[in-house]
Amino acid sequence: MACQVGQDIPRAAKLLREGKLVAFATETVYGLGAHALDEQAAARIFAAKDRPTFDPLIVHVAERSQLNDLVLEVPDKAAALMDACWPGPLTLVLPKTAAVPDLVTSGLPSVAVRIPAHPVARDLLFQVGLPIAAPSANLFGQVSPTTAEHVREQLGDRIDYILDGGPCSVGLESTVVSVNGDQVTLLRPGGTPLEELERIVGEVKSTFPTAQPSETSAQHAPGMLSKHYAPGTPLFIVDNLDQAVRRFSASSTGVLLFGENDGAAPFATVEQLSSTSDLTEAAARFFAAVRRLDRADIQQIVAMPFPEEGLGRALNDRLRRASIR
Ligand code: TXA
Ligand code: MG
Repeated sequence: MACQVGQDIPRAAKLLREGKLVAFATETVYGLGAHALDEQAAARIFAAKDRPTFDPLIVHVAERSQLNDLVLEVPDKAAALMDACWPGPLTLVLPKTAAVPDLVTSGLPSVAVRIPAHPVARDLLFQVGLPIAAPSANLFGQVSPTTAEHVREQLGDRIDYILDGGPCSVGLESTVVSVNGDQVTLLRPGGTPLEELERIVGEVKSTFPTAQPSETSAQHAPGMLSKHYAPGTPLFIVDNLDQAVRRFSASSTGVLLFGENDGAAPFATVEQLSSTSDLTEAAARFFAAVRRLDRADIQQIVAMPFPEEGLGRALNDRLRRASIR
C-alpha cells in the first residue's frame, strides 16, 4: 500500500522515534531517514532501497552538540569546515564512537555526519531529537530524488511517510570529505564546491578519480561504485552535438543540454538545464531532467561534459556515473 505524502513534521518525528522509515526533503536530495542509533531501524533502510550493506549511511543532526555521542574527535580543519559550511551540503567523515551501529558505517571506524540546511529537514531533526541516518531516497544505483513525487514513485510502498518540502534547491548530493588530523580528503564531489573547501582549509587531497572512475575507487569511498545514479536508457557522453548526429539517429535521441540550444533542433527531445549556462541552476534541475529523458520514447540520451569547476565537478561526476563508457 502506498504511503502518505504530507507536510506533517510532528508525525514524521514520531514515526522516526518509533523506528519507522520517513523520507524527507533536504536542500541536496530527498533522504530516506531512520533512527541512526537503532540498528533495526537502520537495517530497514538497506532493505527498502535494496542497498548492499557495504555502502555506509550519512547521519544527519540538528546541531553540533549532538556529535558528542557520534564522533570521537573533531580535528581543527573539520571544525573550520563546520563553521563555514553548516548547515549545508557538506558531509564530514570522522572517527566514530561505539554508539554508532556498525551497520550504519558498514563496519568502518568512521561515520559520515552532516547538518542539512533545508528548513523542513532542520525542523524535523530538532523535533525528533535523535541522529537520523539517511541515504538518498531512491532504489540502490538509481537516480537520486529531488521531489516528493520522485520518492513516491520508487519507494512509496516500502516506507512509512514522505515529508514533502518541495523541490530540492541544490539538487545534487552533499560533498563528502574525510578529515584525518590535518589532512582533508575529497571522497565525493557534491553541492559544496571544492574551491570553497580549499579557501577554508587549504589543500584538499583528492583520491577521487576525476577522469575515469573505476570500481577500485570503492576502496576509498565505499559507496562510490562507478555505476550509480544511472537511468534505464543508455546515456552517452559526447564532445559536441555534431558528434552525436554522426553516431546516432537524432530522431531517436534525447539531449541533456547544459547551456545554449544551438544545434539541438533535430533531436527527438531536449532538456535544457540552464539557458544562461548557470551551474547552480543546472544542478538543481539535473536529476529531474534525467528522469524525464529516461521516460521519453527514445533509444539513447546524449550529454556533453560540464565545465570542470564549481558545481560542474559534481555534475560531471554524476554524468560519468550515469553513462555508458
Ligand atoms: O546530500 C546527501 O548527502 C544526501 C542527503 C539525504 O543528505 N545523502 C546521500 O547519501 O547522498 P548516500 O547514502 O546516497 O551517499 C552517502 C555516501 C556513501 O555512498 C559513501 O560514499 C559516503 O557517503 N560515506 C558514508 N559514510 C562513509 C564513511 N564512513 N567513510 C567514507 N564514505 C562514507
Ligand atoms: Mg545515493
